Amino acid sequence: MAFSIEISEVGPAEYPLLDVLRDTVFGAFGHRSHNPIAAALADRPDLLTLIAHLEGNPVGFSAGGRRKPGTYYVNFLAILPEYRRQGLGRRLMERHEAAARAAGYKQIEFNTFNHFPSMPRVGLALGYRPVGVEQHARTDFDLQIRFGKPLQSPPRRQDVAEIERVQEALARGEQIVGVVRAEGGELQTLLRPAIQSRSQ
Ligand SMILES: CC(C)(COP(=O)(O)OP(=O)(O)OC[C@H]1O[C@@H](n2cnc3c(N)ncnc32)[C@H](O)[C@@H]1OP(=O)(O)O)[C@@H](O)C(=O)NCCC(=O)NCCS
Repeated sequence: MAFSIEISEVGPAEYPLLDVLRDTVFGAFGHRSHNPIAAALADRPDLLTLIAHLEGNPVGFSAGGRRKPGTYYVNFLAILPEYRRQGLGRRLMERHEAAARAAGYKQIEFNTFNHFPSMPRVGLALGYRPVGVEQHARTDFDLQIRFGKPLQSPPRRQDVAEIERVQEALARGEQIVGVVRAEGGELQTLLRPAIQSRSQ
């Protein structure tokens, strides 16, 4: 590669820039968020805000911090289209994981949507599995899928099998529509063929 993309930690002075970056990247997927980044990250303990930049120009960003005791949450992950599939998303997620693990967090999580087709695949590739679903007014009640990964213990055999099952389903064009607790007590991801999608 002829250029080198660096990742730096940034503070609140950069949040307006991140709002623009987020709206550029997420807007292309028909996604609207009504919460400014400054509000989403306000008073967040253990906040880590990262920008990926090429010779000073931002090409992506991510932010995360404590959601509740023991659980670290990644709020944002966004890379400009021409810089995707070069491992930047992975590098940003690994920075969060390293910081969260070092701070003693037991679990790391993020939420995503079926209208972001790459993010579930990034999560599954990095060892995250669906652990729940949510809907919020600030994201127009679209179905959000919560992914989680333990930080202080090796992956369980059941989780590895579930990750593979979900990866295969997504590769067939299916979507995640829910997470339930099966009779044996294990979480199970509900999948079904995609019946509608926004811009891919
Ligand atoms: C999600 C996003 C941040 C990923 O960033 P990225 O830099 O392209 O991700 P990486 O290159 O680090 O990918 C890591 C791994 O995830 C998987 N992956 C990523 N994108 C994928 C895709 N479109 N299809 C299949 N697998 C994919 C691959 O296993 C990849 O490893 P590989 O390239 O060695 O095969 C980027 O696609 C993006 O900004 N998308 C739009 C915004 C978005 O969806 N953000 C998340 C909102 S919740």
